Amino acid sequence: MRYFPAFMDLQGRDVLVSGAGELAVRKARLLAPSGARLTFFMASDHTLAADEFADQARFVAGPISDSAFENSPALLIAATGDPGEDERAAKLGRAYGVPVNAVDMPELCDVVIPSIVERGDLVVGISTGGAAPVLGRRLRERLEAMLPSRLGDLVAFAKERRDIVAAKLSPKERRAFWERFFEGPARDAVLSGNRARAEQAFADELQGRTEGHVFIVGAGPGDPELLTLKALRVCQEADVILHDNLVSDEILALCRRDAERVYVGKKRSNHSLPQEAIGQLMVRLAREGKRVVRLKGGDPFIFGRGGEELDALKAAGVPATVVPGISAAMGCAASAELPLTYRGIAQSATFVTAEAGNGAETGIDWQALARLGGTIVVYMGVRKASGVAHDLIQGGLAPQTPVAVIADGTRDTERVIRADLGSLGTAAAQIEAPGLLVIGEVAAMARGEELIALAEERSAA
Ligand SMILES: C[S@@+](CC[C@H](N)C(=O)[O-])C[C@H]1O[C@@H](n2cnc3c(N)ncnc32)[C@H](O)[C@@H]1O
Repeated sequence: MRYFPAFMDLQGRDVLVSGAGELAVRKARLLAPSGARLTFFMASDHTLAADEFADQARFVAGPISDSAFENSPALLIAATGDPGEDERAAKLGRAYGVPVNAVDMPELCDVVIPSIVERGDLVVGISTGGAAPVLGRRLRERLEAMLPSRLGDLVAFAKERRDIVAAKLSPKERRAFWERFFEGPARDAVLSGNRARAEQAFADELQGRTEGHVFIVGAGPGDPELLTLKALRVCQEADVILHDNLVSDEILALCRRDAERVYVGKKRSNHSLPQEAIGQLMVRLAREGKRVVRLKGGDPFIFGRGGEELDALKAAGVPATVVPGISAAMGCAASAELPLTYRGIAQSATFVTAEAGNGAETGIDWQALARLGGTIVVYMGVRKASGVAHDLIQGGLAPQTPVAVIADGTRDTERVIRADLGSLGTAAAQIEAPGLLVIGEVAAMARGEELIALAEERSAA
């Protein structure tokens, strides 16, 4: 290790910045949240720092000189971009015993400024000792994506309660308490921005009452990269995962390995667990103090029965969080390069289902839908495609209206078949997997196989 990491308290301390151009401003942006008092030494043609830090800093015209060191500054940044001037400033700083950071000149540095990830008082600094700053920045980007945005709130929440915990628990108990806290429901509530719930969960944990939690999570349409960061995090922290058949194996592989997995899927006409039983199972597991993830294809609130499951949890008083997912319509549309709305062509997109479950009628007025115009996206419509087409044509849509049938959207096995409304039934008959019907002018923009071409290929064979 070439440089030892340590964090400096710069609150109210003087930091000198030699330079006021782009390089100086970049460093100053990193330093500003520390509460340091910045003084820029400016060449006349560099006004960038003056523009950005007008209210927060002092500005001295001309190069840095001995008088700058009268107040024992905490740090000097040499960032004019002129190697000769930066070397002169660095030597001056050293002569006064002030630690120096010289931009892009590691040989002149006592201190390196790391790539920083900041969440309030939680700060991660990454240094490659000046050897590979681009690698450092890459790592920083990864950490930025991984660390929840409210992590700083969590640190503040814990800080405000350290004394309460210290007064109530012995040092050994304290440690165990904080271990539980940073994994438990109070943490989740803080990270979700739910202060009231966080207070309650904290009080419960302090009393030794551990509470379970259910996350109703959208897994997206299949491609694991379409999981949200939040969905990934809760899946990696789950004790139990209840998943259905639309959740791909690749996504399950990203979940915590030693989490218990329960398949509660509902394949058409093959219900492995009735909805009521799923609700009861979630409640029971949460009451055992477990972190339960109910992982569903697409988005839980779009034809996903997430609403009923949330109701069951609320009725039982079990805390629950809904984590949205990318619904099949959005995922399939993006993958097939089919814009669901398009100025001047489709000003609306309507999501409908062709199935109401258990053979019930959906109550959808297809003919009224036909008159609405815009794009119609039909979920669970593959088996009923002919009937849907018939009703829409009866409602006034032209049989030539473009359609796209998308099966296994966003997965390696994806298929997109383009046709027209008059042949929607035939197009849908080409696929077996769950599929989506997209009806409207925009469907002509989809990339995919033409139904006519498919038919010609078949007759030629
Ligand atoms: C019970 S619904 C669940 C919808 C899900 N909650 C969503 O937001 O995407 C199942 C239907 O979603 C559609 N679907 C889900 N994933 C799909 C995919 N990868 N490709 C095409 N259609 C999909 C199909 O119409 C399927 O019959």
